[in-house]
Amino acid sequence: MDLTLVTEGRTTISVPCQNPLVPFPPGTAPVFYNSRMALNRDTTVLVIRQLSPHSYLDAMAASGIRGCRVGNETDVPVTLNDRDLMATRLIMQNVRSLGIQAKITCQDANSLMSEEKFGFVDLDPFGTPAPFIDAAIRSSGKYLGVTATDTAPLCGAHLRAGIRRYMARPLNTEYHTEVGLRILLGNVARHAAVYDKGIIPLFCYAHEHFVRLHLQLKSSASAADKSIARLGYIHQCPVCPYRMEEQKFFPGVYTCPLCGTSLTPTGPLWTGPIHDQDTLSGMIQDAETFIAGDKSGLTKLLNTCWDEPDISFSYNYHKLAKYYRLSPGPVDIILNRLRDEGYIAGRVHYSGYGIKTDAPLEVIRDSL
Ligand SMILES: C[S@@+](CC[C@H](N)C(=O)[O-])C[C@H]1O[C@@H](n2cnc3c(N)ncnc32)[C@H](O)[C@@H]1O
Repeated sequence: MDLTLVTEGRTTISVPCQNPLVPFPPGTAPVFYNSRMALNRDTTVLVIRQLSPHSYLDAMAASGIRGCRVGNETDVPVTLNDRDLMATRLIMQNVRSLGIQAKITCQDANSLMSEEKFGFVDLDPFGTPAPFIDAAIRSSGKYLGVTATDTAPLCGAHLRAGIRRYMARPLNTEYHTEVGLRILLGNVARHAAVYDKGIIPLFCYAHEHFVRLHLQLKSSASAADKSIARLGYIHQCPVCPYRMEEQKFFPGVYTCPLCGTSLTPTGPLWTGPIHDQDTLSGMIQDAETFIAGDKSGLTKLLNTCWDEPDISFSYNYHKLAKYYRLSPGPVDIILNRLRDEGYIAGRVHYSGYGIKTDAPLEVIRDSL
C-alpha cells in the first residue's frame, strides 16, 4: 500500500494514496480516508475536550484519523477498532509514529460494543449507522457520537429506505436536511429509551453530505420518558408554505388553516434542542486557540449554530418570496423586521437561504 502523510488539526498520520482523477477519490484506496470530513472530526475533538470522558472508542476507525486525533489532541485514553485487517495494521503504524497510548482491535463493531463499555462511543460507518445504534447505546457509559452519510434515505429522497432504517417517515421538503437530522435523533432517542436512557443533544448538525450527532446519555427511566416526550412531527402542507410542529407520540390529523389541504406529517422526529449552550460556548472559545489550520468553515458553523433559534423547521426565504411573487430583501433585514415585530428569528446552519422564526406566514411575507 502506497502511503502519504496528511495533517489534520495537530495530528499527522499516513493514509493510502488515492486516485485524484475520479469523482470520489477515497473510494480508490484500500483503507478509507476522506479529507472532506476534517470538519466533522474537528467538532468531535472540540466536543471531547469539553467533556473529558474516561475513555473513547472509535468503533470504525479505518486509517485511525479520528481516534488518533482524539488520542493526540485530548488526554482521553482511546481504543481504535476496525474489522478490516489492513485498516488495523495502518492504525498500528499511525499510533506508533504518533507515540500515543491506544488499544487497537480488529473486531466487528457490534460484537466489541456488546462486550466492552466506553465513556464515549463513536460511530462513523459507511452510510447508515442504524445497524450499530443499539449496541453503541449499550456500550456507552455516558456519551455517543454518530455520523450518518445516508442523507438520501434520511431526508426523504429515498422514502422507503428511510422508513426501513429509521422507522420514521421522512419528507423531501426545503428543510429536508433538518428533518433528516431530527429523524436520526428521534431514532436514537427511541433506542436509548429501551434501556431506560434519555438523550441530551450536545452538538448536533448537518453539513454537506452528512449528519453528525454528539449526545449525552442519561441513565434513568424518567430521563428516557423526558426524551420520549420530545418526540413529535412536523406537519407540512403539500400545496402552500404552511407547516407546524407537534410534540406528540402519535401524529394528529390536520388540515391547512390557510388553504384547507390535508397536512402531511413527517416523523416521529426529535423536536427538542439540538445543542447544549454550555458545551457549544466552550467549543467556540476552544476553537479560537486550539484548532490548527484553516478553521473558517468550523467557526462559521459553530457561530451559526449558536445563533440558530430552537425551532424544528425552517423556511427558504427565496422560495417563499417566489411563492408570494416578491423580490426578497437581504436576509439580515428580513430577520431584523421579524425581531422588531417581537418574533424569534435567525439563520440556519445548513443553508444560506434558510431562516427560522416563530412568526406566522403573513408576518414573514410582510417582512420579505
Ligand atoms: C467511513 S469509514 C470510517 C472512517 C473513519 N472513522 C474516519 O474518520 O476516517 C468506515 C470503516 O468502517 C469499517 N467497518 C464497516 N463495517 C464494520 C463493522 N461491522 N465493524 C467494524 N468496522 C466496520 C470499514 O472497514 C471502514 O474502515
